[in-house]
Amino acid sequence: MKTVKLNNNLEMPIVGLGTWLSKPKDVYNAVLIALKNGYRHIDTAMIYNNEEFIGKAIKDSGVKREDIFITTKLWNTDQGYEKTLKAFDVSLKKLGLEYIDLYLIHWFKGYDKAVESYKAMEEIYKNGKAKAIGVSNYNIHHLMNILNNCEITPMVNQVETHVTLQNHFLHQFCKDNNIQLEAYAPLMSFRIPQLLENKVMIEVAKKYDRTVPQIAIRWLIERGIVVIPKSVTESRIIANYNVFDFSLDEDDMQAIRKVNTGRKIFTEYDNVDY
Ligand SMILES: NC(=O)c1ccc[n+]([C@@H]2O[C@H](COP(=O)([O-])OP(=O)(O)OC[C@H]3O[C@@H](n4cnc5c(N)ncnc54)[C@H](OP(=O)(O)O)[C@@H]3O)[C@@H](O)[C@H]2O)c1
Repeated sequence: MKTVKLNNNLEMPIVGLGTWLSKPKDVYNAVLIALKNGYRHIDTAMIYNNEEFIGKAIKDSGVKREDIFITTKLWNTDQGYEKTLKAFDVSLKKLGLEYIDLYLIHWFKGYDKAVESYKAMEEIYKNGKAKAIGVSNYNIHHLMNILNNCEITPMVNQVETHVTLQNHFLHQFCKDNNIQLEAYAPLMSFRIPQLLENKVMIEVAKKYDRTVPQIAIRWLIERGIVVIPKSVTESRIIANYNVFDFSLDEDDMQAIRKVNTGRKIFTEYDNVDY
């Protein structure tokens, strides 16, 4: 299992299972299949309404708790110091765990709210209830707010990243500040047909005798970005993890770089109205 080292030396598996929109029964099976096939990293969030089913699958899997890396996230309406502490306990209880590996602020909801929430997360981290803390959907100015006003540098920034939204400048900023970039929607989410039909991606996939999703995932791994493809389909869960026995050469990395359009699929981070 390939991992990256976070700024506090915690090892984070570079590929994890995404679970947004994975319904209770589906997510339970998906987590069991993933753990059986080598995954050791699961990404969820309070708002996905599936934490308890993921917790149950983890228990039933027979894999040791300490061998699994679990991320969950603080929802927007729970931001603020006291509310964050409470929301964290609710997630912990739903997951049925003693600690979370990574707790993230889900979205930016204002500079002051971010600092208040993050300070509560620092307390949770210091108490050992979260092994790492970080943010999601943060651009450089959002990160600067935390870096300037809080004590602990976020370990992770989870943002929309895929072949048409490559985030080279944000990635460089994160590297310069010891923040691990993590890619959500690595397969372009509900726009996956656009990925599967992309001519450059199809050509590269043919060359390596792989699928387009495998190339899209491998391309992020080559860049040192953590990646969390979501699937509830057994064959896809297995295929998406089968990306460690080949690597992309520099010409193909450059060819895929040209696929970038810079266009987002999800809400622009300063305009979250939920
Ligand atoms: N922090 C945030 O704000 C945020 C936002 C969005 C997502 N996320 C996280 O990131 C994870 C991934 O993002 P995402 O779920 O939006 O999108 P994604 O992983 O880019 O794509 C998921 C879609 O691709 C399909 N799929 C997966 N593997 C495939 C394969 N090998 N071949 C063909 N189709 C395949 C899935 O279908 P099936 O499931 O039917 O197989 C599903 O429709 C989420 O699940 C969540 O954990 C975080």
